[in-house]
Amino acid sequence: TCSTKFPIRNRVDCHPQPGASPEVCEAKGCVWCPTTIANVPWCFYPANGPHGYTLKDAPQKTAQGWRVTLIKRGTISLFGNDISPIVMDVEFHTKDRLRFKIYDPNNKRFEVPLNIESSSDVSFEPNYDVEFVNDTVLQFRVIRKKTRTILWETTLGGLIFSNQYLQLMTSVPSTSIYGFGEHEHPSFKHDMNYVRYGMFSRDQSPVALSNLYGVHPFYMCIEKDFNAHGVLLLNSNAQDVTLSPSPSLTFRTIGGILDFYMFLGPTPENVIQQYTEAIGRPFMPPYWSLGFQLSRWGYNSIDVLEKTVERLRQYDIPHDVQYGDIDYMERQLDFTYDKANFAGLPEYIKKLKNDGMHYVIILDPFLTKDEPQGTYRPYELGQELGVWVNNSDGITPAVGKAWPPGDSVYPDYTNPKTAEWWTQMCMEFKNVLDYDGIWIDMNEPSNFQNGQHPGCEKNHLNYPPYVPDITGGLLAEKTLCPDSKTYLGYHYDTHSLFGWSQAIPTFYASQNATGKRAFVLSRSTFVGSGKYTGHWLGDNFSRWRDMHMSIIGMLEFNLFGIPYIGADICGFNEETTYELCLRWMQLGAFYPFSRNHNAIGNKEQDPGVFGEEFAAISRSALRIRYSLLPYLYTLFYHSHVSGNTVVRGLMHEFTSDPQTHGIDRAFLWGPALMITPVLEEGARSVYVYFPEASWFDFYTGEQVPPSWLKKSVEIPAPLDVIPLFIRGGYILPIQFPARTTVLSQLNPFSLIIALDEHGEASGSLFWDDGDSIDSVERGEYSYVEYKYSNRTLKATVIKNGYNGITPLAYSSIQILGLTSRPNVIFMNGKIIPSNRMKYNSNGKITLWISAPLLQELTISFEY
Ligand code: GLC
Repeated sequence: TCSTKFPIRNRVDCHPQPGASPEVCEAKGCVWCPTTIANVPWCFYPANGPHGYTLKDAPQKTAQGWRVTLIKRGTISLFGNDISPIVMDVEFHTKDRLRFKIYDPNNKRFEVPLNIESSSDVSFEPNYDVEFVNDTVLQFRVIRKKTRTILWETTLGGLIFSNQYLQLMTSVPSTSIYGFGEHEHPSFKHDMNYVRYGMFSRDQSPVALSNLYGVHPFYMCIEKDFNAHGVLLLNSNAQDVTLSPSPSLTFRTIGGILDFYMFLGPTPENVIQQYTEAIGRPFMPPYWSLGFQLSRWGYNSIDVLEKTVERLRQYDIPHDVQYGDIDYMERQLDFTYDKANFAGLPEYIKKLKNDGMHYVIILDPFLTKDEPQGTYRPYELGQELGVWVNNSDGITPAVGKAWPPGDSVYPDYTNPKTAEWWTQMCMEFKNVLDYDGIWIDMNEPSNFQNGQHPGCEKNHLNYPPYVPDITGGLLAEKTLCPDSKTYLGYHYDTHSLFGWSQAIPTFYASQNATGKRAFVLSRSTFVGSGKYTGHWLGDNFSRWRDMHMSIIGMLEFNLFGIPYIGADICGFNEETTYELCLRWMQLGAFYPFSRNHNAIGNKEQDPGVFGEEFAAISRSALRIRYSLLPYLYTLFYHSHVSGNTVVRGLMHEFTSDPQTHGIDRAFLWGPALMITPVLEEGARSVYVYFPEASWFDFYTGEQVPPSWLKKSVEIPAPLDVIPLFIRGGYILPIQFPARTTVLSQLNPFSLIIALDEHGEASGSLFWDDGDSIDSVERGEYSYVEYKYSNRTLKATVIKNGYNGITPLAYSSIQILGLTSRPNVIFMNGKIIPSNRMKYNSNGKITLWISAPLLQELTISFEY
């Protein structure tokens, strides 16, 4: 049969849209060969068929790399309007970053306004080689110099570059591919069996295969010899990517240019450091935003809100941040509050703040135009300034339907005027509600109908010849018509940039309004959003499987440079249950963004509502979180300055152990803490895979026996326990917990020193006032490095730029993994009295000390 002649592995789809038949396929000059294997293209390009591009002349060397000019040679065109000539510029940006950009030299096409600068120093020796191989079809290769692994091999001959359809296929060196978003992926490591993912921002609850709120055309690949690299396609048009088993990737986008950036790693952490160096490093979150947060849509009255907050207080459950969802507003109008049902809200917020709590308000990106004249200033001022997204005429505002009564217009945040208007509105509203941060929602942007009034015209933008594999199959579905006009161009090109463009002015508005470090939480994100905003995983369901999916989402957003991430704890849609919610409180205590949030109409699900036992278990999980916050905050500092992930898969740290590549039910905080939550109803144990390292039970300090290493071991997890393990070789700074971070920040510090097999460990602590603007950039922080070796702990103060409101001090030290009891212990040369220490036979020692945090500290053990 034809299948023997045309193996399924190498097929390039020649009919990506619906409606393929032997006739239409063969008429194009493509091959038709059906198969029963799911997702394999039936209509595909002939191997060396008459299609694509050829070199105009030999590749030219340029100051930064290479330039090739390509001319169309063949006759197969999928959708017409093929562009010729086209140019590919290969730019050597840094020793680990390469850009290859394919564009139309004669017409400027849309480009994402994210400026990725090349290194000004051109004297570097790149870790990559590029090759152009002019075989039967032209090939472009990127090779890792050190190992000669081919990271990319793409047939430029098979390239399609037409006005509204750009397609490129490349082989990749392995099937360990991670990333691409935003989707709910069933596994962290991708299924490569012809799976196709659409990317186009969409108001969509996370369901399998659907394109969701944000767009991140970025992947990481672990090569067969365990080096890692990453690739970004910087393009904001509706697009999809197909993952095929050969292994290969097919990129299809319907606009802009093909602008690829490759990051050579070679470790997964290096890849993300290099990626965030290019797109912008994550913002430094305020310390309070690492505390536990509570929200719900539908408190509906200040009484219910107060009662809810009060029961958390009664149970002494840590609670730092309270949210106001759209029901705080008067009829869901931005920059108002409901003076009837939420009478006294401004005073109540002040009261919460006096108690050391913080308050975050939601704002939606639509303003009703239908309030009586003279009554709704935010709309009227915006209208006067002309800050809205317009219809295709570029003059009249696009009118859609959203939460507020009447019809709504949409601020065009790509317009600098809009940014000014928005900032002013946020500043003015701060005088009404004394908020600390801004939650920006519905910014895909969402519309409760398909396109604005009176519907989308039939034209090539609204109905392009190819619609990528997106839910609904219609670009205008639940949003504005693609031919709407924004300051930066057609909504067709800028749609998926809406949330990103809103996050930037909101970041500065939050900063200006509060005079403190910005806090922005955005539903829609794009490449580079992490510099300004965190993200939550959207309108999930109160289901066990969604807990598992949240881990994958959290790992992926750490790859995307948005480490401030979490999912709605206990689930948003549908009713939660006692056990689900309890296990989710335990898992959520380890989300970088830890917030319990619920949809209107569902039963209450805050940790105070289920009674004593639930409250106690939630409290204890959150107290563990709070005690670990100095470690978490230090991870965020490293993320902010060096681009490290905060939450990471085991694959990042144990890359050469292929068993870790598929792990997505457990995760790490930084390199040192493994979290292994229960994700199944009724389960009272979890299977934990222990990669080769020293591991210690967080609760007992007991070392995991060597026989457990490189195995999956059943670990007990009664209802009140989330199993946690500390990795030897690391020192974690911790602090005594309190009900809020404002209080816990003042408490004594402690260190957990977990020794590796050589009896060594290291770590660091970043500390500042927690909420002033740019304290890192202004040097107003302290930084301590810890090193334990030769039976001696040394704390070295690298930077002493913040001393605390009250003097900061250590009150205890724990060491795990000692082989025997030391005879004498010295602190800064003085013997520690034996009543100030406790040795457990399992190799754990606790010392009660009193020493200033920001002075050199030496503790040595003598045997
Ligand atoms: C959207 C948000 C959700 C919020 C609701 C009401 O569905 O994703 O978090 O509660 O709108 O504002």
